[in-house]
Amino acid sequence: MYYETDKNDHGLPYNPLKACVVPRPIGWITTISEAGVVNLAPFSFFNVLSYDPPFVLFSAGSHEADGGRKDTVVNVEATGEFVYNMATWAQREPMNHSAQIVGRGIDEMAAAGLEGLPSRLVRPPRVKGSPVHFECRLHQIVKLPGHKKSSEHHVIIGRVDAVHIDDAALTADGRVDVLKIRPIARLGYKDYTSIESVFQMEKRTPEDEIVPRAPVP
Ligand SMILES: Cc1cc2nc3c(=O)[nH]c(=O)nc-3n(C[C@H](O)[C@H](O)[C@H](O)COP(=O)(O)O)c2cc1C
Repeated sequence: MYYETDKNDHGLPYNPLKACVVPRPIGWITTISEAGVVNLAPFSFFNVLSYDPPFVLFSAGSHEADGGRKDTVVNVEATGEFVYNMATWAQREPMNHSAQIVGRGIDEMAAAGLEGLPSRLVRPPRVKGSPVHFECRLHQIVKLPGHKKSSEHHVIIGRVDAVHIDDAALTADGRVDVLKIRPIARLGYKDYTSIESVFQMEKRTPEDEIVPRAPVP
C-alpha cells in the first residue's frame, strides 16, 4: 500500500505511522515547574543522538483541546533542565499512569505512587526504582509545524551532563544488563514490547571506537 501524509489516505482502520518505526524507547521525563512542582511524563519520540558529550531528544505534541504546550515543554523552557529515567517492565503501570493530563499544580511522581531521588546537577528528581537516569540541560528547542495546532511538536534537545546506573543493573563484567532490567518500548497502537532476547554481531560502531583498546603490536 501507499499513502501521502498530507492526504492521510491510508484507508486502514488505524493510522499505521507509529507502527512503522518500532520499537521506540520511552524517555520517561522528569521536570520541575518554576513553582517547584514535579512533573513526570513518558515520551516515545525519544532517543540518544550523540555520545561525546551525549545529547538526547524528545518530541512533545500539543494538547488536543486547545493546542497548548504540554507541562513538560513549559517546564523545560522555564528551567532549562530535565531528567531521563529508563522505563522498565517493573514500572510499566506507573509509567502509564504518568501519561495522564493533570493540572499543573499536581506532583505527577507522587500521583503515580512513585518516590523521587535527588539529582546532583539539576533540580528535577530521578524516579526511584528506575535503573538508569540522565541529568540533562536544555540545548535547543525546535518547533515542528502541524497540520493543526494540536499536532505542532516541540523537539527538546538536551545535553546529558550526568549518568546514573544502578550497580544492580550491571553484569559481573560491567555491562548494562538489559535482560535483567527489561526496558520497555513503544510499538504502534496500544502495543508495547520489552527486551527479552539479545543477539550479537561483530560489526564495529563509532561507540566502540571511543573505548580505549590495547595498541596493535
Ligand atoms: C508510552 C507513552 C509514550 C508517549 N509518547 C509521547 C510522545 O512521544 N510525545 C508526546 O507528546 N506525548 C507522548 N505521550 C503522551 C504524554 O506522555 C502525555 O501527553 C503526557 O502526560 C503529557 O504530560 P505533561 O503535560 O505533564 O507534559 C506518550 C504516552 C505514553 C503512555
